[in-house]
Amino acid sequence: INKVTLPTLRRLKQDKMPITMVTAVDYPSGVAVDRAGIDVCLVGDSLAMVALGYEDTSQVTLDDMIHHSKAVKRGCRRAFMVTDMPFGSYEVSPQQAVQSAIRLVKEGGAEAVKLEGGAEMAETIKAITRVGIPVLGHVGLTPQRKAGLGGYRVQGTTGEKAVQLLQDTLALEEAGCFAVVLEAVPSLVAHVISKQVDIPTIGIGAGPGTSGQVLVMNDLLGIFDRFSPKFCKRYAELGQITQHALSEYAAEVRQGLFPAQEHQYTIKPLEYQRFLE
Ligand code: KIV
Ligand code: NA
Repeated sequence: INKVTLPTLRRLKQDKMPITMVTAVDYPSGVAVDRAGIDVCLVGDSLAMVALGYEDTSQVTLDDMIHHSKAVKRGCRRAFMVTDMPFGSYEVSPQQAVQSAIRLVKEGGAEAVKLEGGAEMAETIKAITRVGIPVLGHVGLTPQRKAGLGGYRVQGTTGEKAVQLLQDTLALEEAGCFAVVLEAVPSLVAHVISKQVDIPTIGIGAGPGTSGQVLVMNDLLGIFDRFSPKFCKRYAELGQITQHALSEYAAEVRQGLFPAQEHQYTIKPLEYQRFLE
């Protein structure tokens, strides 16, 4: 069934076919990604917010990411599965990063890992790719550095910052990343950066000039509504649909309308007679 691999992603970029990527957090969302024919399934640390209810991504652990990756993997067989390295699992040293990446692959079933940061992460990326684990870079708005960035805001909006973003992306390519996520950067900047590197760029809030797009599934399905970034399009309102269904269920139970005849099991009259005796 046409397993997506790194060569598939290179070919898509060569053929100028946009790469599709979406996040998943559990078995059913992993199945949904596969059935939709999405190319890359990201077990993103955004699951801290959309699946675990944390304020931001800072508290999610490597064990959390492994737990969710295992569930996604059971549903997601065709898409290329990438798992985010959570905050604190890779910054201390390249050795720490390699150990964490190995756990995500070995225990979580990840085929590649993603980590945040630019040129300063080059040695770490080299160390991980050296053991044969592909690395997806992530620059621009890097949510794990929310405090340092002064909140979730668009990046690379000055000439100087845009140049830095380009240099960081080039450094990630040089370090061996197979692709780079560009988050919340002006479309023109993302377009120019995408032209300057040979590896695919995957944009989120980075316009149409990248080699692919990524969205958080809960955002695009309209499930997560604590806040909605400008770059997110809601393709459904599943949150509303869910609320509706649950309210209707509760009302029918209270009115004695559920369960109806068709939801019930029967016992043969003779057996029932015996039961009463
Ligand atoms: O955690 C996540 O969902 C991500 C994507 C938004 C790229 O990192
Ligand atoms: Na992430």
